[in-house]
Amino acid sequence: MAIVETEKQGEVAVIRMNNPPVNALSHGLRTGLEKAFNEANADAGVKAIVLTGTGKFFSAGADITEFRAEMKEPYLPQVIDRIEASEKPVIAAVNGTALGGGLEVALGCHYRVAAKDVRQLGLPEIKLGIIPGAGGTQRLPRAIGVEKALELITTGAFIDAAKGAAAGLIDKVADGDVVAEAVAFARAQIGKPPRRIGEKKIDKAAVAAGLFEKARAAIARHPSGPLAPKCAIDAVELTLSLPTAEGTKREREIFREAAASPYARALQYAFFSERQAANLPGIGADTKLREVKTVGILGAGTMGTGITIAFLNGGYPVTIVETTQEALDKGVTRIRDTFSANAKRGRITEAQAADRFAKLTPSLNVEDFGKADLIIEAVFENMALKKEIFAKLDKIAKPGAIIATNTSTLDVDEIAAVTKRPQDVLGLHFFSPANIMRLLEIVRAKKTAGDVMATAMAIAKRIGKVGVQAGVCDGFVGNRMLAAYGGEVQAMNLEGAMPQDIDGALETWGMAMGPLAVSDLAGLDVGYRIRKERKLTGEAAQFARVPDKIVEMGRLGQKTGAGYYKYDANRKRQVDPEIEALIRAEAEALQIRQRSIPAEEIVERSLLRLANEGAKILEEGIALRASDIDTMYLNGYGFPAWRGGPMWQADHMGLKKAAERIKAYEARYGARWKIAPLIEKLAAEGGSFAALDAKKK
Ligand code: 3HC
Ligand code: NAI
Repeated sequence: MAIVETEKQGEVAVIRMNNPPVNALSHGLRTGLEKAFNEANADAGVKAIVLTGTGKFFSAGADITEFRAEMKEPYLPQVIDRIEASEKPVIAAVNGTALGGGLEVALGCHYRVAAKDVRQLGLPEIKLGIIPGAGGTQRLPRAIGVEKALELITTGAFIDAAKGAAAGLIDKVADGDVVAEAVAFARAQIGKPPRRIGEKKIDKAAVAAGLFEKARAAIARHPSGPLAPKCAIDAVELTLSLPTAEGTKREREIFREAAASPYARALQYAFFSERQAANLPGIGADTKLREVKTVGILGAGTMGTGITIAFLNGGYPVTIVETTQEALDKGVTRIRDTFSANAKRGRITEAQAADRFAKLTPSLNVEDFGKADLIIEAVFENMALKKEIFAKLDKIAKPGAIIATNTSTLDVDEIAAVTKRPQDVLGLHFFSPANIMRLLEIVRAKKTAGDVMATAMAIAKRIGKVGVQAGVCDGFVGNRMLAAYGGEVQAMNLEGAMPQDIDGALETWGMAMGPLAVSDLAGLDVGYRIRKERKLTGEAAQFARVPDKIVEMGRLGQKTGAGYYKYDANRKRQVDPEIEALIRAEAEALQIRQRSIPAEEIVERSLLRLANEGAKILEEGIALRASDIDTMYLNGYGFPAWRGGPMWQADHMGLKKAAERIKAYEARYGARWKIAPLIEKLAAEGGSFAALDAKKK
């Protein structure tokens, strides 16, 4: 089938877009659409036009890959203007997802009939650091009202067909064949004047006073960074003063300004990096996946319950096993309470909550895993215990079952080695809270089979996680980098940057939460136990002094009302002079002269320690790509997507400069700043992580 095809059904021309996989509005599709509309308008036998897509997509919008080059005519706004200007009634048969430019095309049509199972209607451009650039900011407010449009455009949220109909975006929801219903709709419009959204007047009186001021005040820490949200609000506000044609022209200029920003480039990089992470080298797309219909989870503690909720949300039946009735009941109660809370907040319906909970089978008998296709162990972090469990699971699990550990620090090869089927064993490293955090590190042990990796990747997607491959090493990818960064934070503490200085600098820069506030949230006892087991020496022991003392003071973080900060009843953090005094005393004991550290230095040292460790991980093959590392940081560590990730940041500083800065820190601080050979090599060659990744494709 050609990229655009027209089929005549009597007096109605049905124009079909066919540009797999998502009907992105590439140059070819825009050209095809323009031609098809010109022909249909010129054909005296055609009295009405229906525009539709193929498969699950009407259109997912502009082709993002084209943003990197100069756009070629016909531009999308021109094509949409052409569609709207048709003298014959044009009906969009929205057969599936219509996003961004795809929805803008539908808004250019005179009417919209949507299939009832369409779930994704929206203008998500903001998530790519841009704004709708083909009339969306001008037509959507005219279709559904300024306030609702402003909300959809500044959040990038999707609505489904039913909500679209309630809002006035969709004229008819089709129960049956959407194209047939759109053709019938079109026939009924023949001879009537077209109804163009662009010609509609905005009812200014219906716009709440102060709407735009309020919206501007609410975007201070927007996930898309500082520019696109502001641009989106400015563009929507134009509808109050300009007609559609002029508003669209101005929208295009604002679109260009946002698109040229580093934030837009970072967000688009993040979009493609996330998708690239699912491609596992050497494991073809045609790999036969193992069938996973039922899941067994061992341990109903913090992680076991979170993982269980994630799988129940993904539609899998789960058997959860504990050692005592008490622990089992506690875990099951937590799972039930989470579903109830989600239903109360309107995130899911009561029926969905009941349905999901009904798929849970609690048990005290590990033999019940005999039928499970996937078993995930989430018991205490103890090698002897995990080995004992894996030896047992080896006897119980059916042939071909996948057996995973959620360990965060232990050697997965060693765990796999106690079984007779190491090819079926891997790490599935979820992040806490596991039902919420999107990252899933899929840890490939030496003998893990390719189809097990591919199956894990597919399951990650089904349960709404971003799966990224990691190799076996202490901390895998994410936590190993975090250890380096955490060490630097402690160093800066001792040098004179107080917790609020460090967290403040990184939060102002864009991190969701500074590293010390995060430690307080996670609980300081976790790291304390690990440090005590490891019997640290040298610099590492110095960096442990402040956090160890804080724990020994009984301050375990938010859960005890105090850690690096004090917390009030609303868990709002407050600076604590006692902690400042402790840090000063420890620095004095270590004979470290304190100074005030500028915010830029705090940010630079944090980022470069992350990127330097990331480069070592990359060189060792523990991570497949620099972009995989960034994907982990954006989805598991609160790194702002509009800043791209630590590896992206190093690339954008320029690796030559990054290498110079790292060496300068090495000269000042010694071995912990030893430069990664890969950075040194790339800097000397004028290379970048992005170019290195591109070579691997
Ligand atoms: N342009 C180019 N490629 C796109 C694309 C787009 N708009 N949307 C998706 N793709 C590609 C993906 O990169 C992926 O490629 P790969 O298989 O080579 O990795 C493939 O299509 C399938 O995508 P997903 O794996 O994401 O498929 P899903 O079914 O999980 O999700 C989706 C589909 C919800 C459409 C999701 O891809 C998505 O959110 N896409 C982006 C939508 C968007 O932001 N649209 C606005 C674009 S900007 C715009 O329109 C500007 C205009 O206002 C001028
Ligand atoms: P937890 O202490 O909250 O839960 C562990 C549970 O396992 C307890 O309920 C315990 O009763 C149960 N258990 C112990 N032995 C068992 C056995 N033989 N059979 C069945 N159940 C048994 O611990 P948490 O935090 O859930 O950690 C579990 C695993 O997840 C550990 O390996 C940990 O390193 C890892 N992890 C923890 C993260 C976190 O933030 N808490 C993050 C990522 C991984």
